[in-house]
Amino acid sequence: MRLAVLTGAGISAESGVPTFRGSSGLWKTFKPEELATPEAFKNNPKLVWEWYDWRRAIINKAKPNKGHLLIAKLEDLFEDFLLITQNVDGLHQKAGSKKVVELHGNIWRVLCTACGRRYYNYRVPLEEIPPRCKHCKGLLRPDVVWFGESLPQEEWETAIKFVKSCSTLLVVGTSGVVYPAAHLPLLAKQEGAKLVEINPEDTPISKIADVRIKKKASEGVEEFIKFL
Ligand code: OAD
Repeated sequence: MRLAVLTGAGISAESGVPTFRGSSGLWKTFKPEELATPEAFKNNPKLVWEWYDWRRAIINKAKPNKGHLLIAKLEDLFEDFLLITQNVDGLHQKAGSKKVVELHGNIWRVLCTACGRRYYNYRVPLEEIPPRCKHCKGLLRPDVVWFGESLPQEEWETAIKFVKSCSTLLVVGTSGVVYPAAHLPLLAKQEGAKLVEINPEDTPISKIADVRIKKKASEGVEEFIKFL
């Protein structure tokens, strides 16, 4: 079996990291157009960085949960395996996952808007806001994908290629409304893969899923492993 796993914010919910949508999601309190677009950053880099600094502090305190750990274990069970995540929190890697593709970047990485260098910065809180590049003193931005931006090409191509040829795609904790990531379940299905969804709520993916596990990620992944 060639197993692909696609995760979203729901996998980190049990670690105390807020999701984006839903009753207690970030987009209930914050406006994405003011915080997660290139225009927002251009207009007010300080405000955007303050929000990212706050999120980094939450993620910094979070530990991988049982769901993350079980997904890391799945990687040991299948030689042919790829984890594709929309999350920027790095918790999958902390749980031991190695074959990971980050579609939306990583909140711990910074990108210099002047010299284009990328590097990791784990400072919590940041020393200065907005932070400056350690090489050229240019303005840094979080190395994440904002609305209106393209996904990193290599990561996207790797994800597409693997999903097209997988035998099962396990989708965990995503609302399935943000494209192009939300295209992956459709693609897997079109190419003949089995689609398994773990989510306590209904999503657009639910309609096309072959198997639905309507549970929290930790319990759902445990159930998935039992059925293998
Ligand atoms: P969302 O916040 O849109 O969706 C989270 C999903 O997780 C929902 O479908 C919930 O029902 C589900 N969920 C909540 N708790 C769960 C739990 N304990 N176990 C399993 N599932 C649970 O998050 P994403 O789908 O990841 O993009 O959002 C996609 C993208 O939209 C994000 O990467 C981000 C956001 O705007 C960018 O910032 C570009």
